[in-house]
Amino acid sequence: MAMLPLQAVVLSALLQNAWSISSRFPSNFKFGAASSAYQIEGGWNADGKGLNAWDRFVQQYPSPIKNNDTGNVATDAYRLWREDVKAAAQMKLQFYRFSLSWARILPSGFTNEINKAGVKYYSDLIDGLLAEGIEPVVTIYHWELPVKILDLGGWTNPLIVNWFGDYARVVYSLYADRVKTWLTINEPVVMCDLFYNLGAFGLKEPVLGPFLCNKYVLLAHAKAYRIFDEEFRPKYTARISFANSALWVEPATPNDTALAELGRKHQLGRFSHPIFSKEGGWPPAIEKVMLEASLAEGYKESRLPAFTEDEIEFMKGTADFYGMNHYTTYLIRPSKPEDEPGIWPITGSSELQATFIHPPGSTYGASTLNPVYPVGIRKMMAWLKQQYGDIDILITENGLSTSGYELADYDRVNFIREYLEQVLLSMEVDNVSVIGYTVWSLTDNFEWLDGYTTKFGLYEIDFDHPNRTRTPRVSANYYACVIAGRSLDVQDSCYYKN
Ligand code: BGC
Repeated sequence: MAMLPLQAVVLSALLQNAWSISSRFPSNFKFGAASSAYQIEGGWNADGKGLNAWDRFVQQYPSPIKNNDTGNVATDAYRLWREDVKAAAQMKLQFYRFSLSWARILPSGFTNEINKAGVKYYSDLIDGLLAEGIEPVVTIYHWELPVKILDLGGWTNPLIVNWFGDYARVVYSLYADRVKTWLTINEPVVMCDLFYNLGAFGLKEPVLGPFLCNKYVLLAHAKAYRIFDEEFRPKYTARISFANSALWVEPATPNDTALAELGRKHQLGRFSHPIFSKEGGWPPAIEKVMLEASLAEGYKESRLPAFTEDEIEFMKGTADFYGMNHYTTYLIRPSKPEDEPGIWPITGSSELQATFIHPPGSTYGASTLNPVYPVGIRKMMAWLKQQYGDIDILITENGLSTSGYELADYDRVNFIREYLEQVLLSMEVDNVSVIGYTVWSLTDNFEWLDGYTTKFGLYEIDFDHPNRTRTPRVSANYYACVIAGRSLDVQDSCYYKN
């Protein structure tokens, strides 16, 4: 339900008084917006690009995607990227997070062939952003595995660690002169746990696949980090991390407190502990649960593959900040016999014998998977600080989905404001070092299994128009005001469309 602009202003003022926080963001806090290659670029077979997992997956019959949508054209950003730079510049974004398509740069996935047109595309985009004073924040991998690598076992093949490293080396050598913030990989828990559970991108293997993928994703990230350190850091400065899906997990009842902590460790600790903790490796509590579950199922060893001592050392400390994608909060409780089998990390976990439910009274975006629960972002960051110390946190994604064409997106405006209020509380009350905030997404785009039915954009895209016309929503105007004043105290006109 859209809230009226006036109500929004009053609500904001009330919240600020109640917490007596300043509404201003410090000068080193940066505002940006994000996208990812497959979700926007189109040009699926343009100019020598190779095929990736999603190019193939969307062609399956019957289609796994709503309305048989594909990313073949998407927002046509491969052709229309200047329009995106213009949109980012209109809002005076300080950075734009986008991702590279592996097979656009290396058509086979390997370094035997480099696609000059693909290399130039990203080079032009980077230059275009810098010319507007917008910092490029580059994700090296946002879920588009070249099909050749997929067919060789993808993220379950240990050799992918080196293959990803080779790809990372190529992109550093091309762009590290201009890119100063890198995210190696987007959301391991989604690309491993969720995708192998759902069979998204083609391969459904929920038992061993997710956990093999977990191990090699972490090692691949570490490999890419170490390659930069050893081969590029002597010449270029940069901060490198990866983007974790940080779903906040709360106990459904006071009896579920310990389960909630286990839930956090399963969902996020698994990908954070190896990199950010002092001791490294899997969180011990998760190692234990996974071993017990695996033995009970008749396996001889844990389905969560062990790390060697060398691997633990290799991964430790391979991040210069914490990249956090945060959308929502779930409540956790022990599973009951009548519960649907858990699809981790959406409805629950068979390993933890736990089920997720939504916070009571939640409002939702277009997808029921994302109850709006602003205080969750603050609790999430406090937990990260408590677990891993005073590391800088860059919020690499946060956003609300809507459906249909709608420029007056007050729900999104309220969402951004309410989450940013919690970010201010994190910084000012909890002393968490938050260094920036990224709206997902700059424009509407291909929302994976939802196709084009779900919209996240500050800018609306007319998907029926051959030029994929980009039009700012009210949220774009609001966000531009916040950025201009570096403050949540904005004029009433910010709640209307320009
Ligand atoms: C992903 C995006 C996706 C967004 C909204 C994040 O998990 O990184 O690719 O579009 O969520 O579902």
